[in-house]
Amino acid sequence: MNNMQRKAKFTAMEHATRADFDLVFAHEAENAAGLADRVLGWLQSMDGDSPYQVSRLEHCLQVATRAEQDGADEETIVCALLHDIGDVLAPANHSQIAAALLAPYVSEKNHWIVKYHGLFQGYYWFGHYDLDRDARDKHRDHEHYRACVDFCERWDQVSFDPDFVAMPLEHFAPMVRSVFAKTPASRY
Ligand SMILES: [Fe+2]
Ligand SMILES: [Fe+2]
Repeated sequence: MNNMQRKAKFTAMEHATRADFDLVFAHEAENAAGLADRVLGWLQSMDGDSPYQVSRLEHCLQVATRAEQDGADEETIVCALLHDIGDVLAPANHSQIAAALLAPYVSEKNHWIVKYHGLFQGYYWFGHYDLDRDARDKHRDHEHYRACVDFCERWDQVSFDPDFVAMPLEHFAPMVRSVFAKTPASRY
């Protein structure tokens, strides 16, 4: 019987033993090995209905393709690909979902950009609803402010174009696997 089939003995965590947790963490390690596949599967599921001229998947592919064309490194390209992965699951705070997913595997800078890209994208639409399009400027003195402005301006806000030729998801799959194969930083 492998670790994915064996069960811990406890029914309440207060009664668990070290052996129980050894089994739990062995199971989690095997579970983590499938993370990249689940991420890719979720991205593929975004190839459906959207209010834009492109699907949410196509938008993500366009952002990642633009990042790659601008010479971004692998981790940055993967962050570009995943920046909107929280769109359907967490429409009220989609940026934070993507940032939390990526946090253990990426730099503090890339995490910050993904986390705040939704606020920074507001520059392009808040004004239509009497909201402050410069709300991002509360972070003006942050060291990654300019990078997040650039992410939105150069890659994100322009990637709703049905005529743009993006690379397919399969092109980015090895990069996704590479990033999620890193030893995750513990961020409890
Ligand atoms: Fe977004
Ligand atoms: Fe986006």
